Order: sequence, then C-alpha cells, then structure tokens
Amino acid sequence: MEQKLTPVMTKNALDVHDLTVQFSVPSGVISAVDGVSLSVLPGEAVAVVGESGCGKTTLARAVLGLQPFISGRIEVAGGEVGHDLSGQGKRIGMVWQDPFASIQPKWTMRKIIEEPLRLAGEKRPIEPLVEQVGLSVSLLDRYPHELSGGQRQRAAIARAIALQPPLVICDEPTAALDLSIQAQILNLLKDLKAETGCSFLYITHDLQTVRYLADRVAVMYMGQIVELGKTEDVFESPRHHYTKALLESSPNLAALGHVPSAPLGEIPDPTSHIPGCKFASRCPAAQPTCQTPPPNDMKGDHSALCHFPLN
Ligand SMILES: Nc1ncnc2c1ncn2[C@@H]1O[C@H](COP(=O)(O)OP(=O)(O)OP(=O)(O)O)[C@@H](O)[C@H]1O
Ligand SMILES: [Mg+2]
Repeated sequence: MEQKLTPVMTKNALDVHDLTVQFSVPSGVISAVDGVSLSVLPGEAVAVVGESGCGKTTLARAVLGLQPFISGRIEVAGGEVGHDLSGQGKRIGMVWQDPFASIQPKWTMRKIIEEPLRLAGEKRPIEPLVEQVGLSVSLLDRYPHELSGGQRQRAAIARAIALQPPLVICDEPTAALDLSIQAQILNLLKDLKAETGCSFLYITHDLQTVRYLADRVAVMYMGQIVELGKTEDVFESPRHHYTKALLESSPNLAALGHVPSAPLGEIPDPTSHIPGCKFASRCPAAQPTCQTPPPNDMKGDHSALCHFPLN
C-alpha cells in the first residue's frame, strides 16, 4: 500500500493577485511592487530574481503581512493575508539574508529553534528537526555567537520549517555566507524541498543558484514581473530583453568565454512615472511603441511583459 509521508496540499501555497505597494518619499512616490501576480504551487520552488531595488523584499514583506499594500490580494494556502497586517502571513516560514541579525543573541539555540513551536502552543522534541537541517544536537545548549554563519543559517532554516508551514520564503539566504557554505545551504534547501514537500519562494539576485533550486522563475524589474516561466525555459530561451541582459552579464557565462553585452546603463529613478515599458530606456530593441504599456505576451506558460519579445 502506498504510504504518504506528508499531507497532500491541494491549494496553492501562495496566490498574489495584482499587488501594488507604494512608498511616499520626499522626492515622490515609489511603486516598489507594481501590479504583481504570482502563484506558488504545492511543493514548488519559485524564484524571484532582479537587480537591487526591484521590489523583491517588499513583495516578501507584503506576503508575510509586514507591509501594507494599496491594492491587490494575497492568499497563503487559501487564507487571505489582510491589509490589517494580520492573518495567514504568520504561518509562513521565513529565512532572512543575515543569520546574525535574525537570531536572538542572548538565547540558547534550543530556545531559538523551539520558539515558533512554543508560540503555536505545540510541544514536541526539536532534536529530529535539528538533525534534519544537518546540525548536531550538541549545539542546542550553545549561544548564536558560538556557531559559524552556516550553522546559524541552518538554525534559522530549522525555525522556519518547525511548524511545517505551507510556504517558506528565503530572502537572499546565502548572500552573507562564504562561497563554500553557500553551496551547502543551497543543498540543504533543495533536500528539504524534496523531503518535506514545502513550497518555496526563493528571492535572490544570483541567477546560478536559481537554476539549481527553482522550478519556475519570475524576473522582476522596477516593481513588475517582466518574465515568468519554467526555469529551464527562461534560462535557455529568455523572452524579455531584460532577462537576456541579466543572463549575459551573469559571471558564469562570462567565464565560459561569452562576450558580455554592453552595459545597459542606469536603472531610472524609482520615483519617475513611466507610462510605457519601464525597461525601454535601457532596452537595445526599444521602438516608439514601447512608450505605451506593453502587453503580457504569453507563449504556453512562458510570459513576457514586452511589445517585442524574443523567441
Ligand atoms: N520603507 C521604505 N521606504 C521607502 N522606500 C522603500 C522602503 N522599502 C523599500 N523602498 C524602496 O522600494 C524599492 C524596492 O525595494 P526592495 O528592498 O523591495 O528591493 P529589493 O529587490 O529587495 O532590493 P535588494 O536586492 O537590494 O534587496 C526601492 O526603490 C527601495 O528604495
Ligand atoms: Mg531585498
């Protein structure tokens, strides 16, 4: 008889519909997230990639219920995350970039990892969880400063998955770590995805790790998702000119002898109002039409927000 080790989730782990988040700053209004729609299916890892300031963390904060949004709708495992910053967002496991900042310095590792269970009123031993993330249980009586950066990030991951959340968000989980440790943490995330069936929203600007971890990838530019598709499709045949430029400037491709494309110039001021394609000022293929809003061009399940998509 077939044995199921994890409950089968039928609802999407995440549904974001037409989400907009704005910040008022002295020089104007920044649409940090500008009409984003994105789903994460049960057991799926979706990566969100893009340059610094494109809105990745703001999107994550809105999903967590930490960031008010002006319009749109967010559902986590079918439950709505409200404008009142409460509700389902609390059920999400979160792994931030800096394991030093996100861990209480005066608590033992046992207290740190047990905290989500305690808050949820659940009592069960954490040793299996600690072993699952590759930590020795002997570390449980130590303090964060006695652990390495990689060990602390493992502890942060243990906390994030302690309640078997429907969704785990990782925001640049390896950016603060040494290269060799980065690979170990990525391996751990990949193993956990296979073992637990958790869904992941994986935020990064490191394209090579996306290829390793994600089933689908969303490319963000100035608050919008400009391309969305299966990881392999996006890497093999990018449809948006921005994605193509990102891939061509990725260090690994350069190392393989590809000539990097010409630098695309500066990202426009985030407070500037751009009625047409936001990438047009940097796009090598821009035409006069690009001053009007681009259609979302779909080819199968591979979309690009562009008047003149590639492929
Ligand atoms: N609290 C805030 N107040 C004002 N502007 C903000 C605030 N938080 C973010 N922004 C602006 O919103 C935009 C998106 O920022 P966000 O931090 O989401 O980008 P990001 O993609 O996570 O960047 P990075 O890769 O550097 O982490 C940026 O222009 C940023 O300056
Ligand atoms: Mg960020």
